[in-house]
Formats: sequence, structure tokens, C-alpha cells
Amino acid sequence: MSKVLIAPSTDPSPLSELTEYVKELERDKADWLHCDVMDGVFVERKTIDEVVVSLLSTKTQLPLDVHLMVANPQDKVASYAKAGAHSITVHYEAFGGKMQLLNTLHKMRTLGVKVGLSIKPGTDIECILRYLPLVDIFLVMSVEPGKSGQSFIKDSLTKIAFLQKYREENKLDFLIEVDGGINEKNVNMVVGIGADIIVAGSAIYNSDNRAQTISKLRCE
Ligand code: DX5
Ligand code: ZN
Repeated sequence: MSKVLIAPSTDPSPLSELTEYVKELERDKADWLHCDVMDGVFVERKTIDEVVVSLLSTKTQLPLDVHLMVANPQDKVASYAKAGAHSITVHYEAFGGKMQLLNTLHKMRTLGVKVGLSIKPGTDIECILRYLPLVDIFLVMSVEPGKSGQSFIKDSLTKIAFLQKYREENKLDFLIEVDGGINEKNVNMVVGIGADIIVAGSAIYNSDNRAQTISKLRCE
């Protein structure tokens, strides 16, 4: 098994502490910074935007893994690429149709970022199978997008196992990223079943020893 990447999320850090928090995560040996972008439309809350992502890019060397929980992502991907994103993940449910999604995945490729796609927990995985050859990352949401601190949805394990098998059978090479409700207790299950990238918000932010939590999440 290759090394699991740990991507702490910007949520739940308050904006006022974010720069310091990110610097600490870098010292604590996080691999990526998962930037939770919410627009108050696709999900209820509003969090960071491209201005904050651009600022973060000047403060850290961590690759910025932008998770776009926004309406009309087709209009936003270019500004996040310009802001310094390493990878951008868009939501299947945010698109008006197949052509719009396809065009956006192609656009992201030409922008030079890693191409990510995600579905909400309630969306059938069959809907996205045809897009998997076009993506670098598939993000399995193991909570409903919108806030940190929720419990891991167990059904996500079935999805991860399915994706792992599908990837192998179809000789694809996308990475499986899992986001929501992951902690030191359940991470072994998630990694054991095929996750390559672990996103964690509360488990790291609320930890008394963040470096140790990051290392434990890596399941080494
Ligand atoms: C959910 C976000 C997640 C979340 C992770 O809307 O996409 O990245 O903040 O936080 P925890 O690990 O607390 O579920
Ligand atoms: Zn996220």
C-alpha cells in the first residue's frame, strides 16, 4: 500500500486563526491543505473564497486541495486555479447537465490543476462512473457537505470498496479521497478498504497534539 496522504481541512478553523493554523499544520507534517469552499447557495454556510485561497498560497507550501461546495462551479474553477489551487474538486450535483460537467472537467485539465469530482452521500455512484477516466481524484463524501463535526456515514465504506475494485478492473488511476467524520478510531477501516487521501477537520483541529493525530491518521 502506498503512503496515505493527510489533508486537514480549513473547516472548522475560524478565519481569524486560519493562517496560523495552516502554518502549524505544515510544521506538523500534513501533506495537503483541504480548502472547504462554501458559497451559502449549494450549501447553507459561507466559508472561504478564492481571495482566502490565494492568500493561503502565499503563506504555505502545502498543496491546496480545493473542495468547491458552490453553485455554478463552471464559472469559478479558473479563479481558484489562478489563486494557486493544486487540485479542484467539483460536485456532480452542482451542474445543470452532462455537457456542462464534461466541459468543466476539460477546462480544469487545461488550467493545469488536478481534476477532482465528488458526489453527496445520497447520490448514486452509478451516475459518475463514466467520468472516472477523466479525473485524478474522486472524493467520497462521508458526511453531508456543509459542516465539520458530523458523524461518519458507514455506507461510505461500501462506496470506497466499490471504487477501489472498479479502478482496478478498469485499469484507472484516480486517487480515492474520503472527507467527513474521520478520526483516529475509524481511519483504519477507511484506509484498509482503499482510501488514498484522508481529509480530517475536527479530529485535527480539536486535538491537543495535532502532530500526533496527523501521524496516527496516516495509519503507519
Ligand atoms: C464538510 C467538509 C469537510 C469537513 C471535514 O462539508 O467538506 O471537509 O469540514 O470535517 P470533519 O472531519 O470534522 O467532518
Ligand atoms: Zn471538504
